[in-house]
Order: sequence, then C-alpha cells, then structure tokens
Amino acid sequence: AAPTRYEAETSPAVCTGTIDSNWSGFSGSGFCNGNNATGAYAQFTVNAAAAGTATLGVRFANGTTSSRPANLIVNGSTVQTPSFESTGAWSTWATKTLTVTVNSGSNTIRFNPTSSAGLPNIDYIDF
Ligand code: GCU
Repeated sequence: AAPTRYEAETSPAVCTGTIDSNWSGFSGSGFCNGNNATGAYAQFTVNAAAAGTATLGVRFANGTTSSRPANLIVNGSTVQTPSFESTGAWSTWATKTLTVTVNSGSNTIRFNPTSSAGLPNIDYIDF
C-alpha cells in the first residue's frame, strides 16, 4: 500500500522545539525545529496494518556542515542511530529510508538527538 504521510506539525506528532516555516520546500504548514539539545525530540504516532518489518522515510534538512545523529526510538526502544548528514542548506531537504520492526496498530517513532547540536529540521515521515 502507499505510505501515509505524518507531518511533524500535526497532532499527535510532538516537536520539542518550534514549528517553523522560514525555510522553503517543506510539506504541509511547517517543520519541526527541535531545540538544540540532547533531550529535544520529534515524535510521530503511526499506524501499522500488520506487525513486522516496515520501512519509513524521514524527510529532513541539515544546513550545517556536521551530521546531527539521532537515536531512532520505536515504542520506547532505541533501535538505530541514523546520522542525518548535512544537506548543504536548510532549504535543501532529503529523505532517509529506515527499516523498523513495528507492532500491529499504533506505534511511536521518536528521533532523539545524541548531541547538543540537536536534530536536523524534520518535515515528515512517510510510513
Ligand atoms: C538555524 C536555522 C534553523 C535550524 C537551526 C539549528 O537557526 O534557521 O532552522 O533549526 O539553525 O541549528 O538547528
């Protein structure tokens, strides 16, 4: 089935930071600019038709020259730490594809930065 798009600015998504719209190219009405801190996160609640392995695409921008790694936390467990490398500009968006194991029904997907630089800007996930 085609993926469902979950926008970072749309409840029940949570952005510990601000929903901004100052960099072009985002989907929907804005994107999550997480606070520049290790504890800041972007969280999505997604619905899975079945338990098992699934892919998600996370769209992000990182206008710095350094990666902004973040723990990918699925239903409370850290499963991997994607790097979220530089995209060259805050208005240049990239989509990273990640493979996760999910439960049937509702699942929380959280990105929790591992450095005090915080998250890249996060636009949405397709799941
Ligand atoms: C800049 C940019 C923000 C970004 C921030 C950051 O302030 O305008 O969109 O989130 O840098 O470093 O995280």
